[in-house]
Parts: sequence; C-alpha cells; structure tokens
Amino acid sequence: MSTADKTHKIAVIGGDGIGPEVMCEALKVLDVVAERDGLHFEKVVYPFGTDHWLKTGGTDGGETLPDSAFAEIEGMDAVLLGAIGDPRAPVGHVEHGVIMRLRVGLDLFVNLRPVKLYDARLCPLKDKGPADIDMVFVRENTEDAYTASAEFSAKGTPDEVAQQPMRYTRKGTERVIRYAFDLARKRNRSKKLLMVDKANAVRAQDLWTRTFEEVGADYPDIERDHAYIDAACMWMLKNPEWFDVAVTTNLFGDIITDIGAMLQGGLGIAASGNIHPGQVSLFEPIHGSAPKYTGQDVANPVASIMAVSMMLDHLGHGESAASIEAQVARLIQDNAIKSLSAGVQKTHEIGDLVAEALAG
Ligand code: IPM
Ligand code: MG
Repeated sequence: MSTADKTHKIAVIGGDGIGPEVMCEALKVLDVVAERDGLHFEKVVYPFGTDHWLKTGGTDGGETLPDSAFAEIEGMDAVLLGAIGDPRAPVGHVEHGVIMRLRVGLDLFVNLRPVKLYDARLCPLKDKGPADIDMVFVRENTEDAYTASAEFSAKGTPDEVAQQPMRYTRKGTERVIRYAFDLARKRNRSKKLLMVDKANAVRAQDLWTRTFEEVGADYPDIERDHAYIDAACMWMLKNPEWFDVAVTTNLFGDIITDIGAMLQGGLGIAASGNIHPGQVSLFEPIHGSAPKYTGQDVANPVASIMAVSMMLDHLGHGESAASIEAQVARLIQDNAIKSLSAGVQKTHEIGDLVAEALAG
C-alpha cells in the first residue's frame, strides 16, 4: 500500500477562543487537498479546552485530557490543535493539561518553527524582504523549566523562595541537536547550524555547549555557529539574513520564535510542529486563543492552514504540503490575503480563498 492509499488517523482539538474557528478553515483546506491528491484522513474531533474543563467540573476535578483520549491519540498519526488558554481557568492549567501533556506524553522533543517572509510589506523591518528572512528554529520541547515543577517555600511570607529549575538531560539535548544538524544538512542552504543558549550565565547549559561540539563532529559538512540568546534576539532584528537553522532550549525557543513570527508578518501566519520523527506528532499555530476575537469570524486562519501544511509534510506528503505553502504565498503576494492581522477579512473568507486556490 502506498502512503497515498493509507488512511491517516488524526486527532482534531479546536480548543479555546478562536481555536475552533481557525481549525474549521484549516480542515476545509485539508479536505480540498486530500480530495485533489487522493489522500485519506479519518478525523477524530475532541472537545478539550476550557469549556470542557468547566463542564466536567472546573476546579472541582474538571477534565483537561483524559487518559482514555490520550491512549487513543497515541495510536494515531497526527494531532491538529487550534489554541488553548482562557481567563476562566487558573493561569496555565488547561495549557498544561492539554498542550504540555501531549508534548511530554508523546515525547514530541522537537518544536519546529519555520520563519519565512512571503512579501516585504508584511515585515516590520525596513529594507528587509523575502530574501532576508528564511530560517527555521529547532526548539527543544520536553525539558527545561517547562517540565520541572515549581516549588515555593515560606509561601506568602517575606522569606518566600520560588524555584523551577532549568533542567537538561544529555539524551534530551543530544537528540534535538542531532535533529537540527540533520535539518541544516537537508535544507542545504548556508550549511551552518547556530546554537542559541546562555551558557555564560546559566552554567548548566555547558551541557549544550559540549553536546553541540560532540554531535557536530559527526557533521563535518555543517559549520557550527553560536550566539547567546540576548545577542541572537538583537541579530534577528538587525541581520535576519544571517539566520538559517538555529537550535535552542525550550524557554529561549519559546521567546525568540515570537520575534521570528513578527519578522514573517505576525502570529497570523506562524505555525509549528511538535515532532517526534516517525511517530504521532502535533501541529498548531503559534498564536494563542485570543478570547476577545472569539466567535466573530475575524481571526486569521493562515497560521492554522500552515500547520496543516507542516502536518502533511510530516506524514510524507511533501508535494501536497508545498502546494499549500505556495498558494498561501501567492495569495499574500497578490494581495488577495490582504493582511495577517485579525479583522481585515473574515476568517471563513480567507479559508475559502486558500481552498479555492488549491482546488485547482
Ligand atoms: C507556545 C506557547 C506555549 C509555550 C504556551 C501556551 C504554554 O507559547 O507554543 O509557544 O510556552 O510553549
Ligand atoms: Mg510561545
């Protein structure tokens, strides 16, 4: 059976706020491409998010992502996620229960974040265009402060101490660095891999320094480059053309990729893959749930559509993936997609434009 004949089983979690609306457009595009290219998908839609947590009890034992659903998802091919986050739940609770549970539980150790500018008018930097902004960040996705528990002592007193360590393992560091070297080789552009860390201040990241050198020895064709996170943020804005493939820790990757999203036109277009090569992986827009735009048909679905493109690539349908990217780029260049901000065009209109362009 060829990959095209295989039925891919995917979990669909619209989530909170604008999540379900942008997901609807993403699925519209997926359906059109599947039909055109003879691909088969079986979608299992899950209701998880803050509404579900509230309905099932909220602070009184509400459900974020039950074990039974996790077990089903483990056996699938991919997950599409809209957005999670809602002020009605305690800060981070549902995010942790859904996003972090899937990232860590499914061991999705690569957070892949392409930053590509399709039209100069979308870039906030003057004198920079598509030739200058084409990079990809490989963010470690299962370690760091993100997965350490927060500890508070003497809570609420003047002597309170709060801590959440930045913890890195040799295995966790090595596999993500290796993935990034492979990617630099596969992209075959500058043949350079930039490691971004803060090993001068956070000495635990000496593990990253050593691992980068050791793994790098297996890639004599890829040049090794290094920048501290503060300097990397500066260079991103000053000389984005210097960036090709960069690898970094979970927390720094979270921050610097939001800068990356701005360089490519904003959170309205930035997508990411939470990947374990060869296993079920999760694809999502970088943006949040934007509660103030909920239900108004104003959110921009392009980032979710680009997440579908990344998912197709992961599932082995590189040409289908590339066709989505190419049509989105063309619609932006032709000003049919006028903006990546919310409110300029209707959510469903942008979905229709992309779907029509792809129906071909
Ligand atoms: C992201 C988001 C998440 C993160 C939040 C929602 C927990 O900002 O995917 O970048 O910090 O990883
Ligand atoms: Mg983030």
